[in-house]
Amino acid sequence: MVPSQASGPRPRVFSGMQPSGEAHLGNYLGALRQWVRLQEDHECFFCIVDQHALTGDFSPEDLPKRVFDLAVSFLAAGLDPERSVIFVQSDVPAHTELAWLFNAVAPVGELERMTQYKDKSAKMESIPAGLLNYPILQAADILLYRAAAVPVGEDQLQHLELAREIARRWNARFGDVFPEPKPILGDAGRIVGLDGGAKMSKSMDNTVRILAEPDEVWSRVRTAVTDPQRVRRDDPGRPEVCNVYSLHRHFTDPARLPDIAGQCRAGTRGCVDCKRILAESIAEHFAPMRERAAALHADPARVHDILHSGAARARAEAETTMARVRDAMGLLWRNAVPTP
Ligand code: TRP
Repeated sequence: MVPSQASGPRPRVFSGMQPSGEAHLGNYLGALRQWVRLQEDHECFFCIVDQHALTGDFSPEDLPKRVFDLAVSFLAAGLDPERSVIFVQSDVPAHTELAWLFNAVAPVGELERMTQYKDKSAKMESIPAGLLNYPILQAADILLYRAAAVPVGEDQLQHLELAREIARRWNARFGDVFPEPKPILGDAGRIVGLDGGAKMSKSMDNTVRILAEPDEVWSRVRTAVTDPQRVRRDDPGRPEVCNVYSLHRHFTDPARLPDIAGQCRAGTRGCVDCKRILAESIAEHFAPMRERAAALHADPARVHDILHSGAARARAEAETTMARVRDAMGLLWRNAVPTP
């Protein structure tokens, strides 16, 4: 028997993002931009995973704002609540319920082998169990909706492989409920931060908020590291290794790229000039999103409504899966023992 695919003509997609507040260039290039495109021909579930955030640094005072601001970024970037289900993880209790049930089949050995776990736990004196179990919750996120595919960055492939493993083990023991989700890898590769070294992230403070005003974009981009071999203004540069140039390729009009690269190689345009063009391209690219975000900030009730109805749709879908899961795992005991 083939595991039941989620119904509907469009393949179902699930992805999640931690609520780190407003999205930045790395979130946009690595995920959001692709999510917006996937909406065209997929049935998409996009989730703000606030419960995953509990395994890292967070404060109960800031978390709600981080969730709200990320929701605004989602909508401003073009996620469309008419076509996609946009919701917050903690609004759908079945995520944590299924994660617990997956504890029955998730292998601790595999959890301990996860690179992200090893990296994060290495620096800790006392490791919270949630850090180890993080990928179980992630598997529950995806499998709860019986998603066929998951857009992820390279760094999440290992977690997705574990979700597939959990699906296989669960299906083998309790019956075919979960399709094995396939990764959809983005085309952006690893997005390097403005420091030219680390992955772009808010915690490294090496990125730009997508909703930043043009002067803020400039003040951030101005600090970007370029080709380290180019010391003087008229030294020849190497666009192929320059991180600023790699950002040009995402944001600057493609017709201008040959000139920009050529002038860099010839040493006829300095890095500061080149960054100025990049800052303008970025600010221009996000102008319509800044407008949408401003409209949403002026009408927060709209954001609340969208997340509210997204959660209702997600809960309905989740309940269908959970009914089968509870039954298969022997948790519907009332149906199975004699009534008094
Ligand atoms: N772990 C993912 C990250 O840090 C976030 C995430 C949680 C996720 N649940 C998910 C991604 C389910 C894809 C699918 O990026």
